[in-house]
Amino acid sequence: MSPWTLLSLFLLAGVAMAADEDEIDALKDLYKNTAGANWTVNTNWTIGDPCKNHWYGVYCDSGSRVTALLLSNNGLAGKLVAIDTSLDQLRTLDLSNNRLTGDFSKLAPYLCSLPQLSVLNLGGNGFTGTLTNCFVKASVDFFYMRDNHLSGSLRDILATPSLVELDLSGNKFHTQLPSSFDDLVNIVKLDLSNNQLYGYLSSELGDLATLKLLNLSHNNFTGTIPSALAALDFTADFSGNTWECPIPSGLSVNCTHCRAGYTVVNGLCKECPAGFSGNGHSECVMCPANTFSPVAGSAFCSQCPRGAFSFEGSADCVGTFLLVQFVLIVLVLVLVVLSLILYCVLRCWLKRHNKAPANDGATAYLHPEFS
Ligand SMILES: *[C@@H]1O[C@H](CO)[C@@H](O)[C@H](O)[C@H]1NC(C)=O
Ligand SMILES: *[C@@H]1O[C@H](CO)[C@@H](O)[C@H](O)[C@H]1NC(C)=O
Ligand SMILES: *[C@@H]1O[C@H](CO)[C@@H](O)[C@H](O)[C@H]1NC(C)=O
Ligand SMILES: *[C@@H]1O[C@H](CO)[C@@H](O)[C@H](O)[C@H]1NC(C)=O
Ligand SMILES: *[C@@H]1O[C@H](CO)[C@@H](O)[C@H](O)[C@H]1NC(C)=O
Repeated sequence: MSPWTLLSLFLLAGVAMAADEDEIDALKDLYKNTAGANWTVNTNWTIGDPCKNHWYGVYCDSGSRVTALLLSNNGLAGKLVAIDTSLDQLRTLDLSNNRLTGDFSKLAPYLCSLPQLSVLNLGGNGFTGTLTNCFVKASVDFFYMRDNHLSGSLRDILATPSLVELDLSGNKFHTQLPSSFDDLVNIVKLDLSNNQLYGYLSSELGDLATLKLLNLSHNNFTGTIPSALAALDFTADFSGNTWECPIPSGLSVNCTHCRAGYTVVNGLCKECPAGFSGNGHSECVMCPANTFSPVAGSAFCSQCPRGAFSFEGSADCVGTFLLVQFVLIVLVLVLVVLSLILYCVLRCWLKRHNKAPANDGATAYLHPEFS
């Protein structure tokens, strides 16, 4: 129970005067629109004066003005699209955990027109629609709308300076967070868990000086958790998202993947070497033949240009023209070597062959002359 609720309860003492006629009509309207006859408890409702007769859940100040309506868990049902603004001293409105429905963007302008409204709890109902921007200038500082079906933008509500606690958990917000939170100057508790929020987290969340609890669990956030959020003096719940490794030290969150070009090793990211590619989720993969990756940390292997080829795991490709040149040079070298060998062999053979027959020949030639 908030301080304001308690205050409202204390102000209850000394009820004497009668409530305003317009206020009585406003309460009777609420009773009628939310199936009052079927409420779990509706003691004294619609009988005489709400303050004097202690209508169940109605609290008044010493001037017999209604300051709080506490009708949580009371079987209120039906479409609620308006609240009579003659309840202009209302500080606390708690209609949580009932079966109220309706487009919240229709109801919101009435709530924003209640100049004293500080605690608003419509959690655990079936409200649909969006949060309008009227709360930015309204007086609500404890704003609880958990477990409804709200959707749309969070930009205006996250720029509402009066907010001390905001609970929008369990709705259908499918949007990104703003990058700046400069206007949330009083925020203590921010619960956006169980939605479909996506995108990257801004490190500016770490600048929320008054924050004590941040719950972003069970959304679809991606990217890394900024290291600026590691050494915070508030409780943070980042679980149930698919975070990119590495997780800043000190946070008990698991990460699932790394940036493309890397692979996860014990919660840390290891760069894939040149000649490999990495999708960030599984192990680095060797580039197949005829593809290449020139530098470490490549997300993919590129196809070799036309007329070039590579072997598996290559950091670059070899042009076929170069290959032909290479083969030609090798052939020429081989030919040269072969020629040399042949030349050598021939020379040696000729030398040996010439020597022996030369002597024979000499004898042979000399023989006829000198014989
Ligand atoms: C109260 O509940 C009964 C039975 O479910 C239903 O017939 C009746 O219409 C309800 N009354 C109101 C005021 O909704
Ligand atoms: C209901 O009103 C009567 C007077 O009409 C009063 O005597 C009684 O105490 C009230 N009930 C409660 C629970 O306040
Ligand atoms: C965050 O919200 C989830 C779901 O609403 C809840 O289960 C969890 O306990 C909360 N974490 C903290 C630290 O309050
Ligand atoms: C979003 O997160 C919810 C759980 O919070 C999960 O069930 C769902 O598959 C996610 N959607 C995408 C598109 O990642
Ligand atoms: C991280 O993963 C491990 C192993 O899967 C699991 O036991 C642990 O509870 C997880 N921690 C968190 C904070 O989700």
